[in-house]
Amino acid sequence: MIDLLHAEGFLGTNANFAADMTLVLSLLVAAMFTVGFWLARREKYDAHKWVQTAGAVLNIILVLWLMILPYRDFIVRDAGGPRESVFYYVTTIHATVGFFAFVFGNYVVLRGHNLVPQALRFNKYKPYMRTAYGLYILSTLLGVWVYVTWFVTVSNPPVF
Ligand code: HEM
Repeated sequence: MIDLLHAEGFLGTNANFAADMTLVLSLLVAAMFTVGFWLARREKYDAHKWVQTAGAVLNIILVLWLMILPYRDFIVRDAGGPRESVFYYVTTIHATVGFFAFVFGNYVVLRGHNLVPQALRFNKYKPYMRTAYGLYILSTLLGVWVYVTWFVTVSNPPVF
């Protein structure tokens, strides 16, 4: 398993298998949130709830497993660096927006399942859900920029 994650990627860039898999699965999560949004517009609220929950859970696994550690190693500890400054600022912008998307998105999902304390419950779902969706999509687009920076444009790509 570890060998597979570190094997050559399948998208033809400098990325390994783990990074290519992260990109493809993150795009899948964004597609799931978009389908879920459409289900809500069609008033299919139960299906909407479960599609958004599945997307959020998959996103939790990706962020905790495949983003926090490379952030620590290649940005905080600067392993194999220094690299062009764009490498650090693009990733940090992404991580900052991604942090808010992660916290706010999971809060909205927990509220949808009545799993937050009374004081944190909201009843006007629309603005909360739209904000969470917007933050997730923005984080995904910034993540694509991170991928291109790390594995296509920098002269000294991270190897792991
Ligand atoms: C909703 C939250 C988030 C979404 C949707 C998201 C999405 C993405 C996407 C699409 C990529 C490109 C795939 C790749 O380069 O392998 C990526 C990469 C990355 N993200 Fe995030 N991200 C989120 C949160 C975060 C957070 C909170 C951090 C902070 C630690 C972070 C740090 C990184 C790093 C370091 C990479 C490069 C990883 C690598 O290629 O090995 N992301 N993210």
